[in-house]
Amino acid sequence: MIDTHAHIDDEQYSENIAEYIKEQQACGVEKILIPCVDLLSLRRLSSLCDEYSDYLLPAIGLHPEEVREDYMSVLDEMESLLDSRKWVGIGEIGLDYHFDKTYVLEQQLAFRRQLDWALSRDLPVMVHNRDATEDCLSILEEYTSRGLSGVMHCFSGSHETAERVVDMGMYLGIGGVITFKNCKLSEHLRGIGIEHILTETDSPYMSPVPHRGKRNESRWMSYVISELSKVYGISEDEVDRITTTNAKRLFRL
Ligand code: NI
Repeated sequence: MIDTHAHIDDEQYSENIAEYIKEQQACGVEKILIPCVDLLSLRRLSSLCDEYSDYLLPAIGLHPEEVREDYMSVLDEMESLLDSRKWVGIGEIGLDYHFDKTYVLEQQLAFRRQLDWALSRDLPVMVHNRDATEDCLSILEEYTSRGLSGVMHCFSGSHETAERVVDMGMYLGIGGVITFKNCKLSEHLRGIGIEHILTETDSPYMSPVPHRGKRNESRWMSYVISELSKVYGISEDEVDRITTTNAKRLFRL
């Protein structure tokens, strides 16, 4: 299995990172992709990925919740680093209207500018969407029609939204949410081809049942895979094999 979205540059992992990585490898986690949220995380994850370069793969991008007055200069700095190393993708980028709508326009402009980076460098995107589905999907449709690919990370939307995402050739990133009680995600995925599904954790967040409330770990994707095997009526090994192949295809691993 490949964790396509894990913030293990987070301080919660820094103390025992070597041990942590060994544990994930021992449990069958092939690779971990680390999305970027701001300039601090960019510094942290860059050095982490230098140290474990065959195992941890870095993305670059400004998270929508980190878009503020200074977003243009942050994006300028990130843009100057686009060709400085191999990035696995542009992310995590997108729109988040949940807590604060002060910077909605700025979020949209930042999103578009980073989608332009992805298109011009032929990189996939890791998209964060919260309470902004219509704006997010209509912007993405403009770009996917011009060849953009990517994943809707931490997907928890409706069946109709899932269909719209796969219709534009994008993937659905499925994490711990699918294990939550009273969660309708399994139902919403029925009829959506498994060839569009990626597994992820969003570590340290979104820990699956039975580890809710703890710091998440990539190896706990096994609980997500178990739920997906029920949705698709195939073995966990098959789910693992297919979703790993999907991740390798999208991120060209
Ligand atoms: Ni994230």
